[in-house]
Amino acid sequence: MIREMVKEAFGALKYSYSPYSHFKVAAALLTKSGKIYTGCNIENAAYSPSNCAERTAVFKAVSEGERFFQSICIVNEDAKGNHDYCPPCGVCRQTLMEFVNPKKFQVILAKSENEYKIYTLNDLLPLGFGPENL
Ligand code: THU
Repeated sequence: MIREMVKEAFGALKYSYSPYSHFKVAAALLTKSGKIYTGCNIENAAYSPSNCAERTAVFKAVSEGERFFQSICIVNEDAKGNHDYCPPCGVCRQTLMEFVNPKKFQVILAKSENEYKIYTLNDLLPLGFGPENL
């Protein structure tokens, strides 16, 4: 399944709209029911309305009725065509926090199908504020 997610994420890089940073990011979000939603970063001339790949994937999934997720795979490609591990930004970590159990949800950072690192959301956002805190 990890291999499939990495493939899907790399496949979504071509949709990245990143004319300002030239830094492509894509994500593949796996629902608990086994469906994958992909997303890419979408930049904007006014900069701040830009959206990260991870949030694009989450918003696509939630807007289609999905609320239960197991993991997300994140990949990137820089202006030179290189791939490196791309940790999610703080806003995306918080967005994920809304919908997952941070101790179980896995964040897979992949450089290739064979090179990846797995963290829990809790590793990346310890003591995160979520729905349970209200
Ligand atoms: N970006 C993402 O899509 N996800 C991340 O986790 C980090 C950053 C995007 C935002 C912007 O389009 C570009 O990468 C450079 O920051």
